[in-house]
Amino acid sequence: MKANSSRFTIYLVSIIAAMTGLLFGFDTGIISGALLFIQKDFPVSTEVKEMIVSSVLLGAMAGSLFCGRLTDYYGRRKVMLIISALFIIGTVLATTASAVTGIIVGRLCIGLAIGIGSYSAPLYIAEAAPLHLRGGLVSFNQLAITIGILVSFIVNLAFTEVNGSWRWMFAIGIIPAVLLSIGMLLLPESPRWLVKCGKVDQAKKTLKYLRGDVDVDQELSEIQKTLHVRSASLSEIFASWSRPVLFLGVMLGFLQQVTGINTIIYYAPTIFQMAGFHSNFSSILATIGIGVVNVLSTVFAIYFLDKIGRRPLLLAGLIGMCVSLLSLSWAFSFNAHSDMLRWMAVASTFFYIICFAFSLGAMLWLMVSEIFPLQVRGIAMSVAVFSCWFWNFVVSSTFLTLLEKVGPGCAFLLYAAMCAFGFVFCFYKVPETSGVSLEQIENNIRKRMPLRAIGQPVLANLTLQQAEQ
Ligand code: BGC
Repeated sequence: MKANSSRFTIYLVSIIAAMTGLLFGFDTGIISGALLFIQKDFPVSTEVKEMIVSSVLLGAMAGSLFCGRLTDYYGRRKVMLIISALFIIGTVLATTASAVTGIIVGRLCIGLAIGIGSYSAPLYIAEAAPLHLRGGLVSFNQLAITIGILVSFIVNLAFTEVNGSWRWMFAIGIIPAVLLSIGMLLLPESPRWLVKCGKVDQAKKTLKYLRGDVDVDQELSEIQKTLHVRSASLSEIFASWSRPVLFLGVMLGFLQQVTGINTIIYYAPTIFQMAGFHSNFSSILATIGIGVVNVLSTVFAIYFLDKIGRRPLLLAGLIGMCVSLLSLSWAFSFNAHSDMLRWMAVASTFFYIICFAFSLGAMLWLMVSEIFPLQVRGIAMSVAVFSCWFWNFVVSSTFLTLLEKVGPGCAFLLYAAMCAFGFVFCFYKVPETSGVSLEQIENNIRKRMPLRAIGQPVLANLTLQQAEQ
């Protein structure tokens, strides 16, 4: 009975925090449709249109820069409350804008919330989750991102014929933002952050609440052990013991984006039209199909992450992504207008999304919440998340130019090469972290184990002195 109620609590906590992911997906996805109507109301130059699209990414980059300090200083919960307010303010500004500047400012504000939230939500969930459920629960956030993207595609379609359509499209985002703020008012602070602030009694109470009133002393003492080490300064994340893991986080952020995911998510209708589907309806329908497949494959990932492990899924996904990009490149390079090749382009795109969703999609947000030692977790995670947003901005703002300059065949070949590189990198560097507590991972890092080995449970019983050596 207790086990069931604690499961219910931790699922509820994760679902509420993952509302941030839903807003992330929704607000990044909605612009593709909204833009078509904004430009009817405010005829603007291509540069301004690009600014409207990229303002969210720029805001997210800025947000991710200082989200670490913020969550370490104010706590995970307070920061989640601040971002829900930012989502609400940004959405109201964008929805009621009487000029393009209003939309850009509103979207910057939303971006800021996304940047901070894409970091604090997985962190909050990872710190609240019990060991055996951590992988699946943190990936609720990624599932929520994919649901947000799908909802945005559907909302785009649903409001095309409505008066003031883009305002309605933006406005829908207010619903999850309000739910997030109400939810976060009711949730407790992360027990790990409480321990870090010396509030051990409160941490114990929270752990009991999250674990269903079972004995939490051992878990608490594990958390405390990792906290005997003094607080890290900014320069310490570059110290020789923490540098490799920081490098891993930055590389995962880089790989998630340079393997091309957002060329598909943001530009799917363009790709389908290039492949020969000329009607808007068929390309939008195919785009919604992409959204559905993305959600389903993420569900698969959540189910298998803790069972099969992170590495097999990641490596298999990268192979699948590489193969589908090669076949997409081939389809575009050799007569994309014959029927067979047209369908090949569609099948490759769908297969790519399936493989991304159960590998790099789910894994980045999960791993960056797991691999960093508590004392540097805040800053290190924000550096990794910044890397992801930075490369997202670079790839999505260069894709159209790349298409123009070298054509789709070469563009997708480039992303395929990045997948091949990603496979080699992950094969040698990415650790298996399933079934290992965050404290064990930290002990292994402090022991200067090679990256591949930091998820090994064998060092679980290290004494504190050993861990500090
Ligand atoms: C990525 C986003 C991407 C989304 C697609 C996320 O993990 O960070 O850039 O749009 O997955 O599902």
